[in-house]
Amino acid sequence: MSTAKLILDGKEYELPVIEGTEGEKAIDIRQLRSTTGAITLDSGFANTGACTSAITYIDGERGILRYRGYPIEQLAEQATFPEVAYLLIHGELPTMEQLAQFRRELTYHSMLHEDLKKFFEGYHPTAHPMAILSAMVAAMSTYYPDEADDMVNMVRLLAKVKTIAAYAYKKSIGQPFMYPRNDLSYCANFLYMMFAVPAEDYEPDPLMVSTLNTLLILHADHEQNCSTSTVRIVGSSMADLYQSVSAGICALSGPLHGGANQRVLEMLQQIHDDGGNLQKYIDLAKDKNSGFRLMGFGHRVYKNYDPRALILRKKADELLGKLGINDPLLELAKKLEERALSDEYFVERNLYPNVDFYSGILYRAMGIPVNMFTVMFAIGRLPGWLAHWKELREDPGFRIYRPRQVYTGPAERQFVPIERRG
Ligand code: ACO
Repeated sequence: MSTAKLILDGKEYELPVIEGTEGEKAIDIRQLRSTTGAITLDSGFANTGACTSAITYIDGERGILRYRGYPIEQLAEQATFPEVAYLLIHGELPTMEQLAQFRRELTYHSMLHEDLKKFFEGYHPTAHPMAILSAMVAAMSTYYPDEADDMVNMVRLLAKVKTIAAYAYKKSIGQPFMYPRNDLSYCANFLYMMFAVPAEDYEPDPLMVSTLNTLLILHADHEQNCSTSTVRIVGSSMADLYQSVSAGICALSGPLHGGANQRVLEMLQQIHDDGGNLQKYIDLAKDKNSGFRLMGFGHRVYKNYDPRALILRKKADELLGKLGINDPLLELAKKLEERALSDEYFVERNLYPNVDFYSGILYRAMGIPVNMFTVMFAIGRLPGWLAHWKELREDPGFRIYRPRQVYTGPAERQFVPIERRG
């Protein structure tokens, strides 16, 4: 085993170095405080490995993403979302029989308890569907509080999250909720609950189903990102699965994370409505005082093209071509990408389009409203959250997440009674 040397206050310490499957090195500092009295400082955790994990591998420099060893390109092209969910949660691809059983379970758990349905009546008509989703998932904990079987809870969540999402949308447009149909696949069922109305026949378009399948697979996991770390943090206190996932949904909703897909579309629309002056917005993004960033650009881990964005860029061309849609925002997005990638500011900082840059164009072509984009991301990310929650809880050495800090406030001082404070 290799080691690293640390010299602190003239004293030398030897620290073990751990190596991952792909040769990634990590200096093991678990005994650092007890042996040296010091801690490490890493705001944003950019250099901190919070755990070891066998779920997802990313090489941000080379644009590689693999789930359980399988390249994302192969999964996006050849697998189904339930198959990928199974892979992430169980660690291996399912056999035909295992997949059939998993699909059956996902189907039979898709209805919501009728009383849970009543919760939707209380939300404000303009409530953001992400807020509704996190509240509903937390509320599920009140319905299944004593369920000890984690697998049942996971299947239940996977099955019901799409129903909750579709109901949140129906609520926002004042239409009746559509019950899930047992003859439809996972993705088709979601589209049915979103777009069907009682007065008309509706059959999900296979092209839309397959596009949704790809999008959900691309979102399914991304190792220790903000929302997944949140799920792990909350889960580490022994909070239940629903509470942990609900917290993850809240984390995902922020514009620097999953909320970016909504912001990308809004930004493209704004540039379009403003006459399509790309340079103006590139300059704004470069100006730190403007508070404006190119949404869908940049990534903490990818310092090369995000492989998911590459797949989606191609998919967007294909889908819009097949549908005969000429979306000015897709054209604008491509030009913006081209312009940014040849701009020194973006080149120097390795800022490339991320998964959110093209996903919104696809969702828009599918008729999904902008405020549902992040909810789509949440449905996709759920298997990843579940896999990480399970991995954490099955780790015999897991401890509650409890970072340290470097205190920079006032040193000890004496309390002054109010009448003497002036
Ligand atoms: N537009 C303009 N400048 C940017 C952008 C951007 N989108 N992203 C990063 N930069 C600049 C920063 O200002 C910084 O410049 P500096 O070195 O001169 O100070 C440099 O690039 C590094 O950026 P950081 O913010 O330090 O990078 P970090 O890893 O902390 O943030 C993040 C990554 C949050 C994704 C960031 O790139 C960003 O805000 N992007 C836009 C939002 C977005 O698309 N989020 C989705 C991420 S993917 C996902 O969650 C699914």
